[in-house]
Amino acid sequence: MDILIKDIKQLVTCRNNSRFPKSGKKQSDIGLIENGNLFIEDEKISFAGNNSELKKFLAINRSTKYEIIDGRNKIIMPGFIDSHTHFVFAGSRENEYEMRLAGKSYQDIAKAGGGILSTVQTVRKTPKNVLKEIAAERLKKFVMYGTTTIEGKSGYGLDLGNEVKTLEVMCELNKENKYGLDIIPTFLGAHSVPPDKTKEEYVREICHNLIPVISKEKLAVFIDIFVEKNYFNTDDADKIFTMGKRFGLIPKLHMDQFNSIGGMDTAIKHKAASVDHLEVLTTKDIEKLVKFHKNKSERKIIANILPGVSYFLDIPYAPARALIKNNLPVALSTDFNPGSCMTENLQMIMSLASLKLNMSAEEILNAVTINAAFAVNMENRIGSIETGKQADILIFEMPSYKYLIYNFGVNNLESVYKKGRLIFKS
Ligand code: NIG
Ligand code: FE
Repeated sequence: MDILIKDIKQLVTCRNNSRFPKSGKKQSDIGLIENGNLFIEDEKISFAGNNSELKKFLAINRSTKYEIIDGRNKIIMPGFIDSHTHFVFAGSRENEYEMRLAGKSYQDIAKAGGGILSTVQTVRKTPKNVLKEIAAERLKKFVMYGTTTIEGKSGYGLDLGNEVKTLEVMCELNKENKYGLDIIPTFLGAHSVPPDKTKEEYVREICHNLIPVISKEKLAVFIDIFVEKNYFNTDDADKIFTMGKRFGLIPKLHMDQFNSIGGMDTAIKHKAASVDHLEVLTTKDIEKLVKFHKNKSERKIIANILPGVSYFLDIPYAPARALIKNNLPVALSTDFNPGSCMTENLQMIMSLASLKLNMSAEEILNAVTINAAFAVNMENRIGSIETGKQADILIFEMPSYKYLIYNFGVNNLESVYKKGRLIFKS
């Protein structure tokens, strides 16, 4: 049945009347409607506006039967988009967390055989149906905190069978639509070099074996690479992206997490959808990105910041203010994974962004909605509350939208609608 939500205390639309993501001052514009109204027809939003606009809409709207929800004490915003996660894995690494608390670094642990490769061992041993059940349970948690669309990466298989297994889990969960979320799969074969191969052998295998199969089976939309010392360099990335693009995959990068080794040049050369992490991003690279963005015919590269990683690994925070000041569009994601950020809670990330990245409530809201939609190339369907878009909607029970980052560590979400269907109620 259709739904009218009336007299909404604050309706945060994040509407965007541009083909570009929000950047600079525009990143603060959340399209707020006080005492707003929202009409949902089937899977889509057919109206969002104030009282007088609603009267006009209802006068010509033919739908006679609809449910009415009282919005007087409610704050409503678009469903959150977590545009960078690694939610399909088995096992956990609390032992490594303990080692880090005792003083070991993430890199020390990885060198000693822990880190990504320890999760690879577990994932390889886990049958697909079990991996799928584990991932499905996690989706329930993401939804609880307001995530309605999630990007997920492979990268704990590191061979054909296990990378395909991971991507199939995401594609099947997406099709079965059990928890209602949209899932966007990313092939991150170049996450680490597997123990039984040299890097050169593995890069060749990715290019000539994995990419063709994954593309033919339509198992991924994006292709990602961990560009980092001791992992993959820009030459490797160049080879992998060149092949990936030939097979229709869209580049994204993990870069500048611990060391800045030229990822930005690769990102610009291959027109990546997003550059992710950026904890040690340099001023020079910001300038390069600014220069690239001057070209109006290009899609913007989203700076996807992951402050949960900085918190969890106790490393520097990405220079969000410098990015915004330079008119570059910023998104925020959890990077949910067992080693560097073990939380499904995007609201926690939003809280960190306010205190540690100095972002305003408004900048943060656009970063997890419309700009995140651009990061996964879905800005035409999701990311804002506008006529024609998917009815992915969060209803909060709180005094104002600013309250969300202020009341940290607590969940004020009352209900979640995905494509017009109630998928979570507190
Ligand atoms: O995004 N940086 C590389 N990959 C993940 C960490 C993966 C892991 O430790 O398991 C990240 O931080
Ligand atoms: Fe990541």
